[in-house]
Amino acid sequence: MWNRMHKPSKLFYGAGKWRAIALASVVLITITYVVINREKSNPASGLINPKKASFQSSIQFRPSLELLNGTDVIWQIPNSPKAALFIAHGCGVRAANFWDNYPGCLNCTGLPEERIFVLRALERKFAVLTISSLDRCWSFEETKNVKWIIKWWIVTNELGRLPIVAMGASSGGYFVSALAAEMRFSSITVMIAEGMFQSMGVPKDYPPTLFVHMPKDQFSMKKIQFSMRVLRQNGVPVKEIRCMQFPLYPDLFSDRIPGLNHTVSSKLYDIFSHKRFIDGNGYMKHDGRQTQWKEAVIQRNIIPENYQLLNHIEEELNLAFAYHEMTSFQADEILDWFESHMN
Ligand SMILES: *[C@@H]1O[C@H](CO)[C@@H](O)[C@H](O)[C@H]1NC(C)=O
Ligand SMILES: *[C@@H]1O[C@H](CO)[C@@H](O)[C@H](O)[C@H]1NC(C)=O
Ligand SMILES: *[C@@H]1O[C@H](CO)[C@@H](O)[C@H](O)[C@H]1NC(C)=O
Repeated sequence: MWNRMHKPSKLFYGAGKWRAIALASVVLITITYVVINREKSNPASGLINPKKASFQSSIQFRPSLELLNGTDVIWQIPNSPKAALFIAHGCGVRAANFWDNYPGCLNCTGLPEERIFVLRALERKFAVLTISSLDRCWSFEETKNVKWIIKWWIVTNELGRLPIVAMGASSGGYFVSALAAEMRFSSITVMIAEGMFQSMGVPKDYPPTLFVHMPKDQFSMKKIQFSMRVLRQNGVPVKEIRCMQFPLYPDLFSDRIPGLNHTVSSKLYDIFSHKRFIDGNGYMKHDGRQTQWKEAVIQRNIIPENYQLLNHIEEELNLAFAYHEMTSFQADEILDWFESHMN
């Protein structure tokens, strides 16, 4: 844009006054046009303030659980719910990872992003349902099963009058995109996945679809852009949220991981900084999955013998690097999306 602006200005030399004014107006109009259109086509910004989204909440986890059709079904319903939200996890994650341990759910160990997402949804009066896939990842043979469980849950809890929405991350994102072809959601969110549109096309009356993704994963982004184009061509409302990297700061881990205190959090930060896993501004230099940070942390004996915490820290590192991870930072925008398509 700025190059374009500079080139015509050369023409001003020796030009008549009116020609200069006319040209200037054209340039100005062009710039205005470009700026306006850029804003219009700009996806919602993924710039975030990590501190804004701490794990603190007025909500208490009091989920109910049931073993149904061979899988764990865990849910919580706030007073006067406004919608029902089904969440499909990513590979290796279980329904129990969306909730904190409590006497009714001894297996529950919330992963930081999963649990914060559920808290935000409950705060905003969404009834939340999580189901474990039969295997590590979702398979499309499960759609019938999950449909049955969702219906059972809705009938049992008298939620029949509420809009139903769904969100899935990664494997869960593919799954939700396919499930939406078989049952009625008022809108869906597909996180860090492009969905199944390439193989299944766009079924009739497909619900409005929000893609939440991390553009650092260029390969996925291209596929997501393809899905968005296909959905738009079929008249389906589509939106994207791009999640960007953010710098670590000393309190990041204690702000987001229950059971990890401020002292441990700043020690972790110091190690990452000392080992140069992060640059001078706090940004992860490489994907945490390819960084030897666990060895460094274990060596210093900082984490009490609780390897679960390592997984929780890893999730935050993946997120800070902004590469293929579940995120709750955009929970409010995602819930806004659901709320804007409820009629
Ligand atoms: C608790 O976890 C164990 C092992 O992962 C699993 O076999 C069991 O089904 C879980 N129980 C509940 C109630 O979720
Ligand atoms: C799930 O389990 C219920 C109760 O056992 C059964 O009636 C139902 O047919 C099952 N659904 C599917 C899809 O297998
Ligand atoms: C922080 O947690 C560590 C590990 O659990 C513990 O040793 C330490 O005493 C705690 N510090 C404070 C100030 O609570």
